[in-house]
Amino acid sequence: MASVSQLGYLGIGTRNPKAWQDLATTILGLQMVPGDDPSTSYLRMDEYHHRLELRAKGTEDLEFVGWEVPDPATLQRVAQQLADGGVKVTAGTREEAEDRRVIDLITCVDPNGIPTEVFYGRPINPQPFHPARPMSGFKTGDLGLGHIVVYARSLDETVRFYCDLLGFRVSDFSEVRTSGGQIRLAFLHCNPRHHSIALLEAPGVPKRINHIMVECNALDDVGSGRDLCLRRGVPIAIDLGRHMNDHMVSFYLVNPSGFALEYGWGARTIDDTTWQIEHYTTVDSLWGHPQLSDLVTGVAPGGQ
Ligand SMILES: [Fe+2]
Repeated sequence: MASVSQLGYLGIGTRNPKAWQDLATTILGLQMVPGDDPSTSYLRMDEYHHRLELRAKGTEDLEFVGWEVPDPATLQRVAQQLADGGVKVTAGTREEAEDRRVIDLITCVDPNGIPTEVFYGRPINPQPFHPARPMSGFKTGDLGLGHIVVYARSLDETVRFYCDLLGFRVSDFSEVRTSGGQIRLAFLHCNPRHHSIALLEAPGVPKRINHIMVECNALDDVGSGRDLCLRRGVPIAIDLGRHMNDHMVSFYLVNPSGFALEYGWGARTIDDTTWQIEHYTTVDSLWGHPQLSDLVTGVAPGGQ
């Protein structure tokens, strides 16, 4: 089966790109790249031209997701898998490819309405990446930009889309009983990053996205980022902790679009030759993350 190889880029719609740019540069350490027109701006975190695209649009949600494949043959095979699975696939136009700064792409919509792109020809910026605040940069490379956690109306249908048609593999499943009913999650990987996407099946889906995670190169980057949040009054939805499944040490801040952004370090990776799917019946962390179950059930500030 052909598989996507990493989370390449994300688009976020926001009526307040300036607040996003301030947060991204002064707290997270991302580098601002001016857009081609005033309605778009880009955020850089490595050698890619950008990893996040801010669209001046009031959705305050995920606008699109770009999954990378290595070459045109893989793009063709993934397109065929999607079509064979009954998904409407559209070839990207030259204008769309230029917009994304990639060579070629296809577009489709995932089972939850998320505009999904698959591309090859990663957009390289030859200028070295410089973090916008003193920090050691981001763990990306073949692991991709980080991970996203999105809402799924049907976990089973959504797992089938990502695994059977885009080539993801399951890292673990979680089934958590809450007072409001059962919540199910699936964590999926497409490279050694423990999960590039996780799916959260919960009643009521106010947004497409639950949170975005970016991984720093050093634990001190997470600590100094948290200090900056406290100093500048950026709300922290979930304070420091270490996840039981990917072992990420992280905290979650509330971004200007009102959903969470996880800022982490130190996750374990997956070796597909030895990995065995894990099963959890709690979302509790190894330590810390005191309000994590609230993020999943949607009552945490910033959680949806
Ligand atoms: Fe996360």
